[in-house]
Amino acid sequence: MKLTMIGTGYVGLVSGVCFSDLGNDVICVDKNKNKINELIKGKIPIYEPGLEELVLKNFKKKRLTFSTDLKKSVKESDIIFICVGTPTKKNSADADLTQVYQVAKEISSSINKFKIIITKSTVPVTTGDEIEKILSKKNSKNKFSVVSNPEFLREGEAIRDFTYPDRIVIGSNENKSNRILSNLYSPLVSKGAQYLNTSRRAAELIKYASNAFLATKITFINEIANLCEKTQINVEDISIGMGLDKRIGSRFLRSGPGYGGSCFPKDTKAIVSTGKKFKTNLSVIKSVIKSNQNRSNLLLNRVYKIFKNKIKNKKICFLGVTFKANTDDMRDSSSLIMIPALSKKGALIKYYDPTGFKNEFKQLKNVSYENTIKKSLEGADLVIIHTEWNEFKSINFKNLVKRKKFSIFDMRNIYLPNKIKDQVFKYISVGR
Ligand SMILES: NC(=O)c1ccc[n+]([C@@H]2O[C@H](COP(=O)([O-])OP(=O)(O)OC[C@H]3O[C@@H](n4cnc5c(N)ncnc54)[C@H](O)[C@@H]3O)[C@@H](O)[C@H]2O)c1
Repeated sequence: MKLTMIGTGYVGLVSGVCFSDLGNDVICVDKNKNKINELIKGKIPIYEPGLEELVLKNFKKKRLTFSTDLKKSVKESDIIFICVGTPTKKNSADADLTQVYQVAKEISSSINKFKIIITKSTVPVTTGDEIEKILSKKNSKNKFSVVSNPEFLREGEAIRDFTYPDRIVIGSNENKSNRILSNLYSPLVSKGAQYLNTSRRAAELIKYASNAFLATKITFINEIANLCEKTQINVEDISIGMGLDKRIGSRFLRSGPGYGGSCFPKDTKAIVSTGKKFKTNLSVIKSVIKSNQNRSNLLLNRVYKIFKNKIKNKKICFLGVTFKANTDDMRDSSSLIMIPALSKKGALIKYYDPTGFKNEFKQLKNVSYENTIKKSLEGADLVIIHTEWNEFKSINFKNLVKRKKFSIFDMRNIYLPNKIKDQVFKYISVGR
């Protein structure tokens, strides 16, 4: 099949490459010329394990191409996926749909034969109805079908998640597009994915409800971790005990610095906004948002306590700054709250992240990037393990920090307290 992915970011690039690997002809379009030029040269704009090899393989086979020409790409394709960003609107909790509607307008003038227009971007319920209205202005209804096909991949596991998804959700009320899409996805269904056909509005809401539920699970265990700290219980015992119940399941029950990233923070806010629009109070999700927003400050207070509130000139090392491991994504990472707050109080901060220097901290006073774990640790009063990268799991802290006394705050519980006990450093973790 001939596909166009509009928006070559985490979702558009990964799903485009994977579709091409299944034998489809895919054009990945982006308005960012620099990104497209780099991709044509074989340079991958994001960090995602396994992505580079797959891009190079399919680009060589000419099944995967890159372009900035949206109109031409749409004309040449049968199925168009909208994969642009849907961030939070400025000064509001609503999803900003400017990019989605802009793309719909551009597609509208390039419909030369029947096309399926799919939102893979996470969009609030009724967005498909609006896209249909935009396309209807210039095109008769039998020339296109608007479908919702939300994406559930996780950064860091994106290729595996796309190739072996738990489920594929297709929100469409028309048989013709259903037939074409079940064909497109049949290689994944034959590997075990469940294929759910539902209404367009239901598909849109399934995505938000799923993300809000997962965010709730993380927030729930974080609050239980707070209680564990006060009652000398190891939160991991609670996670295991709860997770063994099949109705609950063990995933997303790890306590840490709170959820972040490009999806949960914005999607929890957007679903509450949708609730408001339809006069429905989503009070559970509202509490989750509030609790998660407090989480970074709660952990920051523990840092202040370690130094008895004397932060000025304290040397702090951050190991990892991205919102989770195996991605370079900094969107809504808790480090974006913690590092500026500590820098403002006069701390001297060094950070190391396997995905390199971060522009987000460029303007901050006394915050510097080190390109090795060793350099970042040297002389630290406090080491904060902020992200759970594998390379942080077996560090010889005593040899590398080279200080008489220091503390380690393991915000991801990657070490076992009884194994890491030491006379030289104090070890603090979360919920245990
Ligand atoms: N990142 C994830 O893990 C993930 C997972 C599931 C769903 N989603 C959803 O998928 C959508 C995309 O997320 P992302 O993380 O890939 O975003 P992203 O910011 O990484 O990529 C979006 C891309 O769209 C491009 N773009 C914007 N307007 C354009 C236009 N008019 N024409 C062509 N290109 C245009 C941008 O230049 C950018 O490269 C969002 O709605 C997000 O909520 C994301």
